[in-house]
Amino acid sequence: MKTCKVLLLGYGVAGKAFARILNKTHDDILKGKDIDVKVVGITTGSRGSLVYQDGLDLAEATRQLEEDGCFDPKGPYYSKIDSMTAAEMLDYDVLMELTPLNIFTGQPATDHIRAALNRGKHAVSANKGPLAWHYKELRDLAKRNRCGFFFETTVMAGTPTFNMAHHCLQFCEIDKIEGILNATTNYILKEMAKGVPIDTIMKTGRELGFLEADPSMDTEGWDASAKLTVLMNVLMDADLTPDKIDRTGITGVTAEDIAAAKERGNVIKLMCRGTKDADGNVTATVRPEEIPAGDVFAGEDLVAVYSLYTDLMGKLTFLQYGLETTQTGYGVFADLCRVLDFMNGAV
Ligand SMILES: NC(=O)c1ccc[n+]([C@@H]2O[C@H](COP(=O)([O-])OP(=O)(O)OC[C@H]3O[C@@H](n4cnc5c(N)ncnc54)[C@H](OP(=O)(O)O)[C@@H]3O)[C@@H](O)[C@H]2O)c1
Repeated sequence: MKTCKVLLLGYGVAGKAFARILNKTHDDILKGKDIDVKVVGITTGSRGSLVYQDGLDLAEATRQLEEDGCFDPKGPYYSKIDSMTAAEMLDYDVLMELTPLNIFTGQPATDHIRAALNRGKHAVSANKGPLAWHYKELRDLAKRNRCGFFFETTVMAGTPTFNMAHHCLQFCEIDKIEGILNATTNYILKEMAKGVPIDTIMKTGRELGFLEADPSMDTEGWDASAKLTVLMNVLMDADLTPDKIDRTGITGVTAEDIAAAKERGNVIKLMCRGTKDADGNVTATVRPEEIPAGDVFAGEDLVAVYSLYTDLMGKLTFLQYGLETTQTGYGVFADLCRVLDFMNGAV
């Protein structure tokens, strides 16, 4: 039986959600794919690391972080190894990049992935930074070294996008993408439309965990721009970076704008749009737009949505309802399954 040794860089919301799914499915994977998945390393930014070649106890790792706030420095598998050294030195088959996003550089996550691929290891990224800034380089490096490189979680958490397109839309040309890709601004605009004052929305959003202490990456449209960049680079072979998107956030949208849109039967949404013409010229915008209140994109319970315009399959729309951490963990898990298929020669 084969073994797949996993190295997790980062063990926060995404890492722990992935660990819960892996614990639940480990035996089924063993039966279904004949591969024993073992997490051999976990690194964090400030809470220590764990390394054990025979496979770490993930429930115990999660317990230590949640109850003690850090890995036990006196525990048997405790290590001070940092992420870059782990990526370069440890013995593993797949690196999972689950560290925080730097939306302006994609670092240090890009270096972690580059180190893995250079060593011929597979890589999975929940972090959209490396995809937004260095997708083609990393894709080509993976191809040269015959490695899998997967990133389902980067746009709309685990909602099937890249893995779906890879399997189901082979040889379809995609020349247009539109969507609402940022859940936070969708929430803010929805609450504003109900007449809730912006200060109350921000306070409640933080209490419910929807909003960061500093939500400017969302409200100024950077997060949506990074996601549109990733979609267009991967699905339309564009050559964008987030700074090349024509971007306007929602900070200038007022309650009066929303009320006036409502009078016209419309709602305001932060729309992402990308097109590619027959000569390969690309345009990409992120900006607040009025859309009809009855449009599928205006749905009350919708978290995020995208449509792809294809030559062979027409327009396809994918809607995401509800945002649970399980979905984030599942996106990473789905990528691990692709790595396992890769190891079995099935990709
Ligand atoms: N949360 C979601 O629903 C979601 C959805 C889609 C994509 N993502 C992406 O997934 C990634 C992880 O998100 P998250 O929500 O899990 O973040 P998080 O809860 O803030 O956890 C981040 C983890 O990374 C660790 N870390 C920080 N710097 C590190 C470094 N240099 N090396 C190794 N670990 C480091 C942190 O450790 P310390 O606590 O010690 O700093 C923590 O364990 C991000 O790129 C995010 O954009 C998240």
